[in-house]
Amino acid sequence: MKYIIETWGCQMNEHDSEVLAGMLADLGYKRTDDEMDADVMLLNTCCVREKAESKVLGRLGLLKKLKQNNPDVILGVCGCMMQQPAMADRIKKRMPHMDLVFGTHNIHELPQMINEAKASRTTHIQVWPEQGEVKEGLPIKRTHGIKAFVNIMYGCNNFCTYCIVPYVRGRERSRLSKEILVEIKDLVNDGYREIMLLGQNVNSYGKDLQDEGDFADLLKAVNEIKGLDRIRFMTSHPRDFNLRLVNTLASCNKVCEHYHLPIQAGSSRILKKMNRGYTKEEYLELISQIKDRVPHASITTDIIVGFPGETEEDFDDTMEVISKVRFDGAYTFLYSSRPNTPAAKISEQVPQELKKKRFQKLLALQNSITEEINKQLIGQTLPVLFEGTSKNDDTVLMGRTRTNKIVHVSGHAELIGKIVDVNIQGAQMFSLSGKII
Ligand code: 5AD
Ligand code: SF4
Repeated sequence: MKYIIETWGCQMNEHDSEVLAGMLADLGYKRTDDEMDADVMLLNTCCVREKAESKVLGRLGLLKKLKQNNPDVILGVCGCMMQQPAMADRIKKRMPHMDLVFGTHNIHELPQMINEAKASRTTHIQVWPEQGEVKEGLPIKRTHGIKAFVNIMYGCNNFCTYCIVPYVRGRERSRLSKEILVEIKDLVNDGYREIMLLGQNVNSYGKDLQDEGDFADLLKAVNEIKGLDRIRFMTSHPRDFNLRLVNTLASCNKVCEHYHLPIQAGSSRILKKMNRGYTKEEYLELISQIKDRVPHASITTDIIVGFPGETEEDFDDTMEVISKVRFDGAYTFLYSSRPNTPAAKISEQVPQELKKKRFQKLLALQNSITEEINKQLIGQTLPVLFEGTSKNDDTVLMGRTRTNKIVHVSGHAELIGKIVDVNIQGAQMFSLSGKII
């Protein structure tokens, strides 16, 4: 019996897919890359922007053929998109070839749902409207062998006015630190070298629990784990990124010097409308505190272009912040109106053409900065943790610096999982190249 899982969206979804894969493996299913060969096919979906959603709907339509070829295949769709009101019914009505529809809160029910789907051929809808307790102990089949995702919390309480995530992922729930630490220790015993702590807003960690420390305390505890080399985390919220945390980052030797700190917009007026809870000046102050204590820190960000009511002046503020901070990289998005979010109800939506024009301008500026920063690394010798071989050439190794820059070198596969000094000799926009010394 074989399975295939297609995943859209963020690391959170990728990690949920690792849990789905773990449950399928426990049921005796093996992974395949060939959908014609699959007995179970799951689509784990994202709804953060409309584009992701329309791609999923198109993909679901195409699966009808798969069902016609093999009526026994179990087709399931899950994830954030399914948590939206009326979505499950819409799928049932328009895509009767789908067997299972479930949401983000009950992925642990997959084994029972598969049994139900085998027993009767109608579309089974099992979407929980609300989050349940944090589930511990689910099996996980990890995609990578060197670095592992570890959830530290679920959900989000921030309600940024453009964002659908709090509606589809529920309120913040932190895992107990003892559960997190046991999971990481086990991973280290299994040979993992790097841990990525995951949460929609990791800086809120512990706020919902009694007798638990905060995110800085958790980082300190993870930093003590013997045999672990690198710690990363995402995503941070600038509002909750306090000085104590900055000092903790500087003092924990395993915490990598790369921080993803979404700014979303450079204009304080727009930040207020977005309900982000900080101003442009406060964000710049935070960056200067970080750079002061961790001088070679790499900082990346998310930026939304064309939030409702964004004027040329607001956009110029964003351009100014990009020039001032000199981000190592930025994920840039065209604002996408999401159903039932407060921003969708604002009447002054920015025309699509204008959004695209601003987006191109911003991308050109950010790309030139990224390239300049990467070029400055030429000649330096940096420790690189090798994760695997290059997609196109298995004599080329792919690894990352502590600052999260991808590095390609030619080398032997036995270096995978090792940290090796590399002299950087070339720099492109998305990767560096070098020589092992
Ligand atoms: N439109 C565009 N981008 C969005 N994001 C979240 N919601 C929207 C939206 N409605 C972006 C934010 C967030 C990232 C994961 O996706 O920048 O940080
Ligand atoms: Fe969405 Fe804001 Fe929560 Fe991030 S912090 S998931 S942007 S609501």
